[in-house]
Amino acid sequence: MRTRDELGFTTLAIRTGHHRTPEGEHGEPIFTTSSYVFTSAREAAARFAGDESGNIYSRFTNPTVTAFEERLAVMEGGECCVATASGMSAILILCMGLLKAGDRILSSRSIFGSTTILFNKYLSRFGIETSYVPLADLDAWEEAIGPDTRLLFLETPSNPLTEMVDIRALADLAHSRGCLLVVDNCFCTPALQRPLALGADLVMHSATKYLDGQGRCVGGAVVGDRKLVGEEIFGVLRTAGPAMSPFNAWVFLKGLETLELRMLAHSCNAQVLAGWLREQPGVIEVHYPGLDSHPQHRLVGDQQRTGGGIVAFEVRGGREAAWRVIDSTRLLSITANLGDTKTTLTHPATTTHGRLTDEERKSAGIGEGLIRIAVGLEDIEDIEADLARGLATL
Ligand SMILES: Cc1ncc(COP(=O)(O)O)c(C=O)c1O
Repeated sequence: MRTRDELGFTTLAIRTGHHRTPEGEHGEPIFTTSSYVFTSAREAAARFAGDESGNIYSRFTNPTVTAFEERLAVMEGGECCVATASGMSAILILCMGLLKAGDRILSSRSIFGSTTILFNKYLSRFGIETSYVPLADLDAWEEAIGPDTRLLFLETPSNPLTEMVDIRALADLAHSRGCLLVVDNCFCTPALQRPLALGADLVMHSATKYLDGQGRCVGGAVVGDRKLVGEEIFGVLRTAGPAMSPFNAWVFLKGLETLELRMLAHSCNAQVLAGWLREQPGVIEVHYPGLDSHPQHRLVGDQQRTGGGIVAFEVRGGREAAWRVIDSTRLLSITANLGDTKTTLTHPATTTHGRLTDEERKSAGIGEGLIRIAVGLEDIEDIEADLARGLATL
């Protein structure tokens, strides 16, 4: 029999984490229990003291959640995973677990809007300040690392402009200056990109996106080594409790099983759509890693297996024109979520990045004419036809 390490990615995504109970169930069970029964007071004491492994209380130990954690950890190539109630709470407990007052975060300026607000408005109240640099500018990262910088944070590709950075180069830089590198791997997922293998210390996810894949549940995760994730970050989860529900964990477990197939299919549709958009009148620019015009296109095929499923494009005529294109669709869903079999589209300047100041939005490069499409798995001709109606009016 082959060892666990020799199994393929999708085999691991389907088979890891399910420890069959004496009932012999084939599908993963959902453990809807808040606590667990001990066989004796001695056993309870040993579990609470950490001398014996086993379930205690579902804020921090639940077999369905653990199954999801084991599966995602293997897929990301990490030792340990902690599942959370949302992607944002994954970032929150990561920062609470690893940083203290006086520490600084150095972040890409092209990150999800709520992450910027978490850093600027909330973490700053506790003495953790954040500085920002352009994602792809390695010199800027190097210059901005100061004596108190502890953590480098980025998304690659970024939301919504799909900019990319060389993860390996940034990991080397981070380590040479005593910092940790954290990658939000939401857009690629481990099916397309494995940041830990490239030197990143931690990967985080909004499981809400492609890990689910059908827009049903909100959840998050952090993956990394036993010390950082299994002890420091898990400690915050155990104490503060932004835990993933067992039902959501079960949905994500099912999502992981088809992740690779879906990511490749999303990528195929997105590649065709990006090429098509480039030819449309009224479209000024298309942002998609799979296009040879993308500034970091060289990273596709190596760091990142395909261009991924997200395409952003700018139309002539600013907000009014962008809203007209969005409002002319009949099939696509106007919603800010992404990573769904259904194609979704949104106007980042007034939705995902709407709570940023004008200055923050400008420095993140998010203009009023920008539209983000998370390309779903519908027939590509239908997606194009739905967009063509609005584009024809520009
Ligand atoms: C790149 C990225 N990271 C993090 C998040 C936050 O995840 P959640 O909505 O699950 O809290 C999002 C949500 O849209 C996202 O797009």
